[in-house]
Amino acid sequence: VFSNVDRAPEDPILGVTVAYNNDPSPSKLNLGVGAYRTEVVSSAYLLSIFVEGKPLVLDVVRRAEQQLVNDPSRVKEYIPIAGLADFNKLSAKLILGADSPAIQESRVATIQCLSGTGSLRVGAEFLKKHYHQSVIFIPKPTWGNHPKVFNLAGLSVEYYRYYDPATRGLDFQGLLEDLGAAPSGAIVLLHACAHNPTGVDPTPEQWEQIRQLIRSKSLLPFFDSAYQGFASGSLDTDAHSVRTFVADGGECLIAQSYAKNMGLYGERVGALSIVCKSADVASKVESQVKLVVRPMYSSPPIHGASIVATILKSSDMYNDWTIELKGMADRIISMRQQLFEALQAKGTPGDWSHIIKQIGMFTFTGLNKEQVAFMTKEYHIYMTSDGRISMAGLSTKTVPHLVDAIHAAVTR
Ligand code: LMR
Repeated sequence: VFSNVDRAPEDPILGVTVAYNNDPSPSKLNLGVGAYRTEVVSSAYLLSIFVEGKPLVLDVVRRAEQQLVNDPSRVKEYIPIAGLADFNKLSAKLILGADSPAIQESRVATIQCLSGTGSLRVGAEFLKKHYHQSVIFIPKPTWGNHPKVFNLAGLSVEYYRYYDPATRGLDFQGLLEDLGAAPSGAIVLLHACAHNPTGVDPTPEQWEQIRQLIRSKSLLPFFDSAYQGFASGSLDTDAHSVRTFVADGGECLIAQSYAKNMGLYGERVGALSIVCKSADVASKVESQVKLVVRPMYSSPPIHGASIVATILKSSDMYNDWTIELKGMADRIISMRQQLFEALQAKGTPGDWSHIIKQIGMFTFTGLNKEQVAFMTKEYHIYMTSDGRISMAGLSTKTVPHLVDAIHAAVTR
């Protein structure tokens, strides 16, 4: 009965890892998926064999897990549909700030979800059912999964201009024009920081103008916060955009992920927060979000959220986490500098200053599809076809290989 099912293409991002895994070359390099890797420390480069950096489990995560394992009172019972209460409270505090009036006034409904993607999907399903507008404006370009998540939830997706290939920076005028022309009440997806794939963020002054426009048109902001602390190294700085939208007393939704900032990728831990006008509304909203979750996956998993709650609850562990988080962010920032300097030193044609201007996990190189295909074929460097590279997958030892490949690609 399934013989007429067509084969689906691989995912444009996760499929890059599949292709990488199938490549026997010892010099292959995976700069596709946004997943942190450690610096390469072996001397393997001297043998012309690249040993890639390893996935990193944070020390503080290991300690939290140890504490959980040693706690005899822990059981594997179902947790509530909305997830662990402590986790939800602490997650809202993390993104909104400890002194957020919205939290103090109990106006925030927070639900533990399956990482950022699950939070977006649950939020979208809730909006489709309970919000009067079903159009969502998303930036062009955006994370490849965004349109699919929203379409499947029944929202119709439109794009607003975001990135200007000519400047490799923000198309601020285009953004203001497109959001200015959006129908009143439309939902607007905003990347809280470290825009994926471009690494281009509005300045604080631009955020303020965006906020004023969104509020004046009664658009509904839906933040995707996948990189808090990972972009600048500061949890507060990276939450600035979200907090300005909450400080004005208006509503918004926030999808939070702990994949990158706690390195909990495979634990699938995140949260959806819906900031409402009153405590009464927030509690009704939460009751409805639970109705979205129950038939979808019943209740969320316990382990990842327990790790996060353990770390956020303990001031010692929290402090250690911020240090490890800053270490990851700083390593990425240093990779940007190294790549930029190495391209300059080699005299590779073009202005590469966007590498150090963009922030977060990715550099949107400006390399085109053909150049990417060439680099993969000739240099075994794997990246998404839009020219995005994960800076977190690069290390001091592998920069020269990448520079050789980029140089060859742009001078062919
Ligand atoms: C990415 O953009 O590489 C990450 O967000 C991982 C993913 O799921 O696509």
